Amino acid sequence: MFSPSLFVHNVSMANTSIPFSTPSAVVTARSVPRSASAIAVAVRSTGAVPRTVGMSRRDLERQGFAGEVGQSVVIPRRDGATVIAVGVGERPSSGDLRDAAAVAVRNAQRHQDVTLDLLSAGSSNSADARAVTEGALLAAYRYPGITAKPDTQPRFASLTIVTSGAAAVERGVREGEIRSRATYLARDLANTPPAHLNARDLEVIVTDLAPAHGFDVEVFDENDLEEMGCGGLLGVNKGSVEPPRLMRLTYTPRNPRGHVALVGKGVMYDSGGISLKPSDAFHVVMKMDMSGAAAVLSTMTTLKDLRCRNQVTGYIVCTDNMPSGSAMKLGDVLTMRNGKTVEVHNTDAEGRLILADGLSLAVEDKPEAIIDIATLTGAAMAALGPDIAAVLGTGSKVVEQLTESAEATGEPIWEMPLEKARYRKLLDSNVADMRNIGGPYAGCITAAIFLSEFTADVPWAHLDIAGTMKVDGDESWRSKGATGFGTRLLIDAVMNWSA
Ligand code: BES
Ligand code: ZN
Ligand code: ZN
Repeated sequence: MFSPSLFVHNVSMANTSIPFSTPSAVVTARSVPRSASAIAVAVRSTGAVPRTVGMSRRDLERQGFAGEVGQSVVIPRRDGATVIAVGVGERPSSGDLRDAAAVAVRNAQRHQDVTLDLLSAGSSNSADARAVTEGALLAAYRYPGITAKPDTQPRFASLTIVTSGAAAVERGVREGEIRSRATYLARDLANTPPAHLNARDLEVIVTDLAPAHGFDVEVFDENDLEEMGCGGLLGVNKGSVEPPRLMRLTYTPRNPRGHVALVGKGVMYDSGGISLKPSDAFHVVMKMDMSGAAAVLSTMTTLKDLRCRNQVTGYIVCTDNMPSGSAMKLGDVLTMRNGKTVEVHNTDAEGRLILADGLSLAVEDKPEAIIDIATLTGAAMAALGPDIAAVLGTGSKVVEQLTESAEATGEPIWEMPLEKARYRKLLDSNVADMRNIGGPYAGCITAAIFLSEFTADVPWAHLDIAGTMKVDGDESWRSKGATGFGTRLLIDAVMNWSA
């Protein structure tokens, strides 16, 4: 199962100073290996308890364990491996198995050789195998840290998944590994402090990753952007001593079935600019304001390995948002790549300004669909909380595909109305085509309406991941810190897209 190409980025990135985490290599086996020091066994809420558990249902119930998803009992043994009974409910879905695998791993973290025997509980198809692999690897993630000795090692010496050996199941495990590895990258990048990861640092990482992962990169610097008329990105960048970068990543399979463009918000650090943010807890996590860009990049790293049949063009739009003597001012008017002008009423609504250029460029490629992903508004977080991202768009097929992918990946999204007829007027400006903020309400919607001004007639969907970009503590397969939300969602969407 092990494929060296999976882990290439950890090797080739040795020249950058930031630590990257390494996922444990996953092997599959038809039975539990002798070397296992912990064995997680699926127990359903009804029916027989597997013999390996060594406890009766009544004994398990006395421990408060009913076999529900989320429940577990750790059973140490005098001789032999520790057994972890993991609840999977009555008829586990793939999502249940992903959660169960995460519970298993969180209970096994002090062990080195961990075996998961969870697939025999369900129908054991490729989606189940993928989910178990993802649950295990994603729960095993922790940020290496900027410390004297960053902890970049894999969590486990060995991680074994017991499978039937069927080809589809083996493929599911491998896909789970690829998707998880990408999510590790997205999490690492978003967790990295802003001084360790500016737009030029990300350029080094992107160009480093490209050859091994089968995508091409074009980098546009401040001079190129000037020539291209990317006034949104340049405007936001004005207050920063660090130059901006816009990167175009292309993956082109032979005889592509379709073509999807992805656009990611890469605000490497969002201080708010002249509309300075207060120095509260939220300001500290504004290093993660490039989570959309990280999700797009991470998605691009999987397409070759997953043999994606669609052409995918990824735009990563990167800059800091800083206050200074040269910063963009309130009242300034910016001219975007598509020629439309924007009056700046709040410099903290910067994400939409840089996405305006990214979306305009994506339109020029004439893709069948555009998906943008951005930590765009506190309003999305207020509306849907930390677990669910907002989706809005003009392309009902794209929104539909994303909704299906959200179900399949366990990264939930909820559609909000793109009410142009009612709310577009909130963006009206006296001096320009529009202003960059609406009123005090419906902030997630007015932000999306703003973006829709730059998508022309290309079917488009927008993901607002402000709420879901981080978790405050370990929670199922989401580990404390940046979640990498949207990575597996985008991968699933571009893999399954067909116009
Ligand atoms: N990056 C922020 C949005 C954000 C907030 C992301 C919290 C993650 C967590 C964005 O650039 C921003 O500041 N948006 C403003 C827009 C407002 C000025 C219209 C907001 O949501 O307050
Ligand atoms: Zn902002
Ligand atoms: Zn921002």
